[in-house]
Amino acid sequence: MTALPKLGIDIGTASIKLVELFPVGKGKWKLGAIGSEITPPGGVLGNQNNLGVIAAAVGKTVKESGAKNRRVAAALPEEQVSSHVVEIPLMSDEEVKQALQWQVEQYIPIPADKAVWSHEIIRRDEAGGGMEVLLVAAAKNLVDSFVRVFDMAGLEVVALETELMATARAVVPADVPLSMIVDIGAKSTDLGIVRAGQMVFARTIPTAGEAFTRAIEAALGLASGQAEEYKRTYGFDTQKMQGKITEAMKPVMNVITAEVRKTGDFYMSKHRGEQVKLVTLSGGVALVPEVVNVLSGLLGMEVAVGNPFNRIEMDKNKTSQLLGLGPFYAVAAGLAMRTS
Ligand SMILES: Nc1ncnc2c1ncn2[C@@H]1O[C@H](COP(=O)(O)OP(=O)(O)OP(=O)(O)O)[C@@H](O)[C@H]1O
Ligand SMILES: [Mg+2]
Repeated sequence: MTALPKLGIDIGTASIKLVELFPVGKGKWKLGAIGSEITPPGGVLGNQNNLGVIAAAVGKTVKESGAKNRRVAAALPEEQVSSHVVEIPLMSDEEVKQALQWQVEQYIPIPADKAVWSHEIIRRDEAGGGMEVLLVAAAKNLVDSFVRVFDMAGLEVVALETELMATARAVVPADVPLSMIVDIGAKSTDLGIVRAGQMVFARTIPTAGEAFTRAIEAALGLASGQAEEYKRTYGFDTQKMQGKITEAMKPVMNVITAEVRKTGDFYMSKHRGEQVKLVTLSGGVALVPEVVNVLSGLLGMEVAVGNPFNRIEMDKNKTSQLLGLGPFYAVAAGLAMRTS
């Protein structure tokens, strides 16, 4: 089955990102359109009256990018989704859905009748070890709000998944047995464990890009716009501003690092013999100068920059225009790479 071209649209708290891809072979794509816009305050999670405002911003992103397709794969914010790997006895694919139906409530924080859930079989051990199923659930009204936003923007949602599932597809090489994704956005950092290309564990912490900016504001007595600019321009470069920006951001980085380590340790304590050997960094904060080296140093582990553009053909102009922006577009690119 050849995949159809589609738009991947990531509505983040800070910005909306769009990537349009045309499949050109197995695991290869050609870039159609790409672009981003600032997300209006409140986002999709704000009150219902806000949906029209978000829809207009999504519509603007599509229009200005020049995208031709209207079929969209979208991501639900990680902190609003519960994903669990459930172990069940060996059974047929058809039986799994039924079996889960009676168990779903014990894994999700909302009543089953107010939730939308789906599952994916991720491991099947014919030798008697049973099977592992990834169960993903979200509140029905959240899903409805997302679908409405795209509907109002004249788009059709053909797939919904989580931000980390999309990122895993876009930036984690399938031949890495066990790795971790760290997506540092504006308000939240999403941490995901990926086993052979498949997301198997996810959590979110409310410390991300805005926390770095606030730390600079407080330490140097700057207005937030100026602090944001210093963060983007100097980042963790100790040679700039006598290292003051780096110093200010360090405590925030320590919090994130500790959570990354905790997440990896937690997973490995439950799965003896499996070892996280690589961290892939994505999200807007991955663009902050030197952040990759700092994280790698603090973790004592290899940290790669998540770049979805490796597998996307584009002309030379676009390549140079998008240089370094891969991690920012990782979720949107991963969504557009879905085969269904
Ligand atoms: N060019 C850049 N250089 C440095 N930092 C950047 C750059 N672009 C964005 N950022 C930072 O990345 C953060 C936003 O990242 P991103 O766009 O991934 O967030 P989001 O997806 O909208 O938010 P969230 O995932 O929390 O909902 C901001 O804190 C911003 O300062
Ligand atoms: Mg994001």
